[in-house]
Amino acid sequence: MPLCSTARPSLSSGNPLSLAAQTVRLEGMESALDPHAALALLEWQVELGVTDAIGDTPVDRYALPDTAPRPERPVAAVATQAVPPQKAPETDPVQEARKSAVRAASLPALREAMAGFDHCELKKGARNLVFADGIPGARVMIIGEAPGREEDREGRPFVGRAGQLLDRMLAAIGLDREQNVYITNVLPWRPPQNRDPLPIEIAMMKPFLERHVALAQPQVLVLMGKISCDAVLGRQSITRLRGQWTQAMNLQVLPTFHPAYLLRQPHMKRLAWADLLELKAKLREQ
Ligand code: URA
Repeated sequence: MPLCSTARPSLSSGNPLSLAAQTVRLEGMESALDPHAALALLEWQVELGVTDAIGDTPVDRYALPDTAPRPERPVAAVATQAVPPQKAPETDPVQEARKSAVRAASLPALREAMAGFDHCELKKGARNLVFADGIPGARVMIIGEAPGREEDREGRPFVGRAGQLLDRMLAAIGLDREQNVYITNVLPWRPPQNRDPLPIEIAMMKPFLERHVALAQPQVLVLMGKISCDAVLGRQSITRLRGQWTQAMNLQVLPTFHPAYLLRQPHMKRLAWADLLELKAKLREQ
C-alpha cells in the first residue's frame, strides 16, 4: 500500500524516528506530533499495510473539501444511455447483386461487376476471381460448382484433375473449350477447404449467374453436380435429375454428374457417358 511522501523512504531501513517525523510532516501534522507520536503513527500505518512512500507533493487531506467533485460523466456514456444504439441500415446482398448484375451490358462488364461485389465473404479468402473459360457465345455452356485450389491459383474454371476429366469427357463427343464450349461456375471464389457453398452464397451469386447465361447466349446448359442443380433448378437430387432434359433460364438444361464425383466413383462414368450422348444428340437436333 503506498503512502504519500516527498522523500520516498524505504520503510524497512533508516532511522524510524526521523522517517516517522518525515512521514507525519508530509501528512501536514508536524505541528501536532512529536517524533515519538510520529513513530507510533508510522507503525500504525505499517500495520495497515503501508510499504512504500510515494508522491512528490504532500497532501493535506484536512484541507481538502468534504466532498470531492464528482467526475463528469463521459459524453459518450450519456449519449449511449439517452439514445438507443442505431443499427446501420442492413443491405440485402441478393438485392445488391441483382442491381449490380442487371447493369452489366457485356461479359467484361459482368466480370468487373463481380470483381467489385464485396458482399460475399469468399472473396476475401480467394486469390482470384474465377469468371469463365472457353468460347463466349458457344452453343454449350457448362456450369460447375466453385473453384478449387488450382482454379483459384490460375483464375480459370476446371483446370485441376476434375477439369482434365471434363476435357476428356467433352472430347469424347467432339467438344472442346478452345472451340465450342463455354464454362463457368455458380461461385467465382473458392470456398475455404473446398467446403460446399452456403445457401446464402449461392443466393447472392445467382443474379450474376443468370446475367452470365443471358449475356453468353448458349443454346443449352449443362449443370455439373448437385450445387449447380440447386442454384439453377432449386433441386439437389442429382441422381434423379441427371440425364433428363429440363427447362430453366429460358433454355434446355441437362443435369449430370460432376467430374470430381466421377473421379471418386468411377463406376458412375457409365451413366455420365449416357448423359454425354444425350447432349450430343440434342446438339445434332438443334
Ligand atoms: N469444380 C468445379 O465445380 N469447378 C471448378 O472450376 C473446378 C472444380
